[in-house]
Amino acid sequence: MKKHQFEVVVVGAGGAGLMAGLYASKSASTAVISKLYPARSHTGAAQGGIGAALGNLEEDRPEWHTYDTVKGSDYLGDQDAIEFMCEEAPGIVYELEHMGLPFSRTDDGKIAQRPFGGHTNNDTHMPVRRACYAADRTGHMILQTLYQQSIKNNVQFYDEFQVMDLIRTEEGVAGVVALEIATGELHVFHAKSVIFATGGWGRVWEITSNAYAYTGDGVAIALRRGIPAQDMEFFQFHPTGIYKMGILITEGVRGEGGILLNDKGERFMEKEGNAPTVKELASRDVVSRAMYLEMKEGNGINGKRYLYLDVTPETVNKYAALDGRTRPDGTPYVVTGEEILGKLPDIIDFCETYLGVNPVTDPMPVQPTAHYGMGGIPTDQYGQVVIDKKRTPLPGFFAVGENACVSVHGANRLGTNSLLDLVVFGKHSGIKAAEYAKEADYIPLPENPTEFIEEQLNALRNSEGNERLSDIATEMKEVMFEHVGVFRVEEGMKEAVEKIRELKQRFKNIQIDDKGKKFNMDLLNVWELSNLLDIAEVTAVSALERRESRGAHARDDYPERLDKKWMKHTLAWLEDDKVKLEYKDVIFTRFEPKKRVY
Ligand code: FUM
Repeated sequence: MKKHQFEVVVVGAGGAGLMAGLYASKSASTAVISKLYPARSHTGAAQGGIGAALGNLEEDRPEWHTYDTVKGSDYLGDQDAIEFMCEEAPGIVYELEHMGLPFSRTDDGKIAQRPFGGHTNNDTHMPVRRACYAADRTGHMILQTLYQQSIKNNVQFYDEFQVMDLIRTEEGVAGVVALEIATGELHVFHAKSVIFATGGWGRVWEITSNAYAYTGDGVAIALRRGIPAQDMEFFQFHPTGIYKMGILITEGVRGEGGILLNDKGERFMEKEGNAPTVKELASRDVVSRAMYLEMKEGNGINGKRYLYLDVTPETVNKYAALDGRTRPDGTPYVVTGEEILGKLPDIIDFCETYLGVNPVTDPMPVQPTAHYGMGGIPTDQYGQVVIDKKRTPLPGFFAVGENACVSVHGANRLGTNSLLDLVVFGKHSGIKAAEYAKEADYIPLPENPTEFIEEQLNALRNSEGNERLSDIATEMKEVMFEHVGVFRVEEGMKEAVEKIRELKQRFKNIQIDDKGKKFNMDLLNVWELSNLLDIAEVTAVSALERRESRGAHARDDYPERLDKKWMKHTLAWLEDDKVKLEYKDVIFTRFEPKKRVY
């Protein structure tokens, strides 16, 4: 076992981890540990933009962004944190620009902005151009920019190290244990502050936009160390994933004028009950539900479970004229194939590669895809992990990005707010973790800091069973997609909970073929599956218990939002293979809950 010591250790090298590491490294010795090479992190898959009320193309204000985010969250987001994020947004976007991020530009050289779902002018209620973008590669550009800055700032990187345990003692958090993938050797990182930024867990579901690496490691490790997970029942389905594959087709397509059509060629988003005002640019939960119902009614293309997203100039121009859409200078909104190609190059490339479809000439087959966890490890707005309903901090432990729940997204996240979340809270958790480290002493390591994870790994390596990883993973994904997906009912969720518990039993007999140490991906993938199973159980139990519909949690059997009983955050602990639930207050500042209309 090798030992290292850093004042701050960040786990994960996506946008949140890099921003946290960059800021921590300005005043503390800092390591970033990641199971991937940083530039391969899933932030690179975020396409359409980062939200900030710059007002470069039309009037916009941070308070409108705040209200839209509160409304989008179905009033479950904590309003103090939302205000903080939206107020910080313009400054942090300019900071990224000054770091060298190559944003797309307006004709007069400002950062370009496009409309995105749920972002509106609060006076007219019409979509506002708030998403700052770099073509359809915004996340990729953020990742590259922050990685370069981190290298410049001497952040120490440990690439292809899988963090497997959090060292938690009576006094607080003392570091992490990681497995070096190349050698199979365990490393102990002794730290004063640990920041988890390990991303999401979309691989729980059958159809997902998430990378293979998105296995919820941070949340699962925290659960095993007695730390609760908050609001796990709220998992977002992005309306437009490539049919059957789930690969993301950015909402930016709809921002550029793309239209959703059913088998009859109808623009179903304008139907009463869907979103007759903002149509395709309603929030994601609303659009995904409308699509699901459309397909359920037999209006999927050729009766199948997909619809068309059409961004061909002919369709865009036809509906832009019907909507009276104009350019910022007041002239009619008319696009050419070249403009579409210039603004959405990766989308066109993906569709040609995976489908043989050119979106400039043909519509794209799409279906809702599991995309983003609104829940996660509970934190305050400085990333400090808070472990109970009184929001008691756990000394030395921070979380940020998708694996954290601040909570700015509440029951449903607006597009572009994840990139914003990870840079704003990444920055502030990095600063706070470094400040904490300057004041605190190192908590002594326990006598055998690797004992807990060695027990888990030995049990896996020595398993004599014949259960296959692929069987357990497939059954988990299917049951979660079917019963804990866009729509949910009591019976289905009960079935899901039972199935996940059965799978967890079967997992004890998992077969591992590779008994070696070096690059043992067999072992690592099995360990990742154990994380997904724990998260699936917590998600399904939290969802079963919440008997109302709110944001991404839509129940056919309880179709109303029930504020009196359910305006509260869920906290879930995994204890002795059971899920214990408690509830915590939502923070209100300015906005009283209203029925959402788009
Ligand atoms: O649609 C998109 O480009 C995704 C963005 C997001 O999840 O914020």
